[in-house]
Amino acid sequence: MADWSPERLKEFAASFDRSLEAYLASCGDVPPRLGEAVRYSVLAPGKRMRPYLATRCCELVGGSVDDAWPAAAAVECVHAFSLVHDDLPAMDNDDLRRGRPTTHKKFDEATAILAGDALVALAFEILATKVPDAARSVAMVSELAGATGWSGMIGGQSADLFGEREPASLERTRYIHERKTGKLFTAACRLGALAGGGDGDEVERLGAFGRHFGHAFQIADDLLDVTADAGSVGKAVGKDAIAGKQTYPRSVGIDVSREAADQAVASAIDALDSLGPAADELRSLAKFAVFRNY
Ligand code: IPE
Ligand code: IPE
Ligand code: MG
Ligand code: MG
Ligand code: MG
Repeated sequence: MADWSPERLKEFAASFDRSLEAYLASCGDVPPRLGEAVRYSVLAPGKRMRPYLATRCCELVGGSVDDAWPAAAAVECVHAFSLVHDDLPAMDNDDLRRGRPTTHKKFDEATAILAGDALVALAFEILATKVPDAARSVAMVSELAGATGWSGMIGGQSADLFGEREPASLERTRYIHERKTGKLFTAACRLGALAGGGDGDEVERLGAFGRHFGHAFQIADDLLDVTADAGSVGKAVGKDAIAGKQTYPRSVGIDVSREAADQAVASAIDALDSLGPAADELRSLAKFAVFRNY
């Protein structure tokens, strides 16, 4: 397997987007405005990091890109749902996402809420109908439900909002990051491994990789909010401090945050120890993808 590179992720994203677009076009009769908002939200130019992880983890345990598709599409639908709701006025109140107006700005608030609702349902519909093996499908639905729900990403989002303007706490920040971002990264890797027929040990190891990588990724996102410009990240920056969010830079400063991201990347790589050279692409992904431009 070739080493990871930004070009490889871009190539993957282009082909993933074509298949997702074709799938959405086949979904039949939906109210036009809602359909447009769902397509607008999920097909906007995201990095596709979670579907990429699902696909590479599936291949690593012997599956194919096609075997990985339902897992990849489902995690991206949940992720897109999380972003649409994250941007709503009741949450982070953002106007820019993936370089474009947020869904509630482009459409309206009610349509954005419903588009998010539709995306989360779609994720589970894909896993229930497009995974050929019934036992595998149930295992994947159960994994993604846990990662999405009140003890997963949604729980993390709740803790994130209720942590605003509270005294900075590293413990609380870790709790939030593990859930709001870590759980979906873990699920992307575990679902990919399940889709490829990985054994229990492979699912555990790849899940641990995803958990540490997700942690590093959210630390990097916190840093980008402080150090990047909106043009390069396609969303507003400098807002975490204004909202008084629990973030790494607020808790421990920029330098220690960078060290923490390095440590999380090292832990992600350690989790792949027994997987040999076949996991080299994931190792290089963890090393380079987190350090985007902070
Ligand atoms: C943004 O995720 C939200 C976080 C959990 C940090 P990404 O940085 O993966 O966003 P897209 O999908 O590329 O837009
Ligand atoms: C969001 O974290 C994580 C989600 C579950 C969407 P942020 O609120 O930091 O994500 P951005 O910075 O808006 O992408
Ligand atoms: Mg948020
Ligand atoms: Mg946000
Ligand atoms: Mg952020």
